[in-house]
Amino acid sequence: MTAPMLEYAFFEGEIVPFADAKVSVATHALQYGTGAFAGIRGYLDADGETINIFRLKDHTARMLNSAKLLRCELPYDRDSLADVITSLVEKNAPTGDVYIRPFIYKPALQLTPRLRGIGDELTIYLLSLGDYLDLKRGQKAIVSSWFRIPDNAIPSRGKLSGSYVNSAFIKDEAEEKGADEAIVLNTSGKVSEGSSCNLFIVRNGALITPPVTADILEGITRRTMVQFAEDAGIPVEQRAIDRTELYIADEAFFCGTGVQVAWIETIDGRPVGDAKCGPITARIRETFFNAVRGRDSRYASYLTPVRRPVAAGRM
Ligand SMILES: Cc1ncc(COP(=O)(O)O)c(C=O)c1O
Repeated sequence: MTAPMLEYAFFEGEIVPFADAKVSVATHALQYGTGAFAGIRGYLDADGETINIFRLKDHTARMLNSAKLLRCELPYDRDSLADVITSLVEKNAPTGDVYIRPFIYKPALQLTPRLRGIGDELTIYLLSLGDYLDLKRGQKAIVSSWFRIPDNAIPSRGKLSGSYVNSAFIKDEAEEKGADEAIVLNTSGKVSEGSSCNLFIVRNGALITPPVTADILEGITRRTMVQFAEDAGIPVEQRAIDRTELYIADEAFFCGTGVQVAWIETIDGRPVGDAKCGPITARIRETFFNAVRGRDSRYASYLTPVRRPVAAGRM
């Protein structure tokens, strides 16, 4: 997928035209994947004027934890990083939904793969983004033949650039086999997540998702789904899931910043439930889209509103 970039980026301390946010081909992070990133959505509010940045400070907190795994040293905390992101959204004055990509990386032109003593930098850019998966239909999923990388190799709980080679293998296999997405097992043989999303199944009225110790990214949308379910009185279990539970689940869906909430129609060619969007998935999905568009005041605290300056609309 290619997507149009917005005009301005934050690069090494200042806002610059996106085209000027460039690094050398010898950059450590480019060569070795020594970067940590975030993916954050900004949704156009139902008022048509405001961009609602979804769970911004949860994203900046997780990003700084990812950076901590890489022993990065940067002068930001979750609040000041959120402020930089908000300023960049204001500067770009988007007129529709955006995806925000902050990236902390090791900029040194240095040959040894190591973590310390080679500096750290921050860049942020924005792109216009609609649906990442086709949400008008159910998803065809397969169980990947690849394993999710274990915590003691490259921790999946952090959003580390290098670990996305694993995601690329998983997604490539799904596409090669005519599926939309793949579910990957961890090295213990238990269900982990999708290539770029977390996974929920429904069995006997309960929502079930693998625990944070199952080599998953500690997804912010996942946490949101758990909250929505609890608020709706739907029982939630965070526990290990066997592969064959996927085949007898009543409902299943992927969730994440990119995929949002995407119901699964088949897994390995087997229909999930009656191969329709089930009632629990439908309810949670509706709550999600109402929340992000600012139509559900119960979840207003999840949103950082950025109002478009009047002048920008007229230009
Ligand atoms: C591997 C992986 N798992 C899960 C997720 C979902 O996490 P979040 O809801 O925080 O976006 C993502 C994407 O963002 C991801 O890349």
